[in-house]
Amino acid sequence: MERNIQRVLISEEQIQAKVQELANEISREYAGKDPIFVGVLKGVVMFFGDFVKKIKEPCQIDFMCISSYEGTLSTGKMVVKKDISADIKGRHVVILEDIFDTGNSLEFTYHYLLSKEPASLKICTLLDKPERRNPAVTVKPDYTGFVIPNEFVVGYGLDFNEHYRNLPYVGILKPEAYQN
Ligand code: IMP
Ligand code: MG
Repeated sequence: MERNIQRVLISEEQIQAKVQELANEISREYAGKDPIFVGVLKGVVMFFGDFVKKIKEPCQIDFMCISSYEGTLSTGKMVVKKDISADIKGRHVVILEDIFDTGNSLEFTYHYLLSKEPASLKICTLLDKPERRNPAVTVKPDYTGFVIPNEFVVGYGLDFNEHYRNLPYVGILKPEAYQN
């Protein structure tokens, strides 16, 4: 195991089984609707690739990138760094996220995409950390992989200062790895 990881919170096998469950449920609900899956970069990249491979219905993919996060503290400010390229007006859209933490970024992303007038808009997040939620956030995930405790996690796309995204599991970072 990577030396800065205190412990594995969710193993590669647990992740893959959960992603399959989510893909099965969403495949059923969106059959015949040609949904567009919008991934919020970069944290979603592993989840996104595994998820869409398991969707057995016609669909499209797109990506956006927003920015708000530096180190382990959210600044609360959002900017669209990369917009989606598809026209989603009248389409069924599912936002895919790595983690729903304070909820600030999904609150922003949801309303930003809603302004483009999709036929429907839902949120699927791999991880949910409810203890950290900003009470002002009104959106909530429609599909959730794992509810996790209030720990800073890395791996499977999630980073600390752009590192650890390549780990195939979700792990808890040793405090000394970010306290100095
Ligand atoms: P928000 O606080 O819900 O707006 O989450 C913003 C972003 O912060 C997420 O999309 C992640 O990229 C990042 N983030 C939140 N919690 C963690 C964590 O525990 N580890 C790594 N990144 C995180
Ligand atoms: Mg993210």
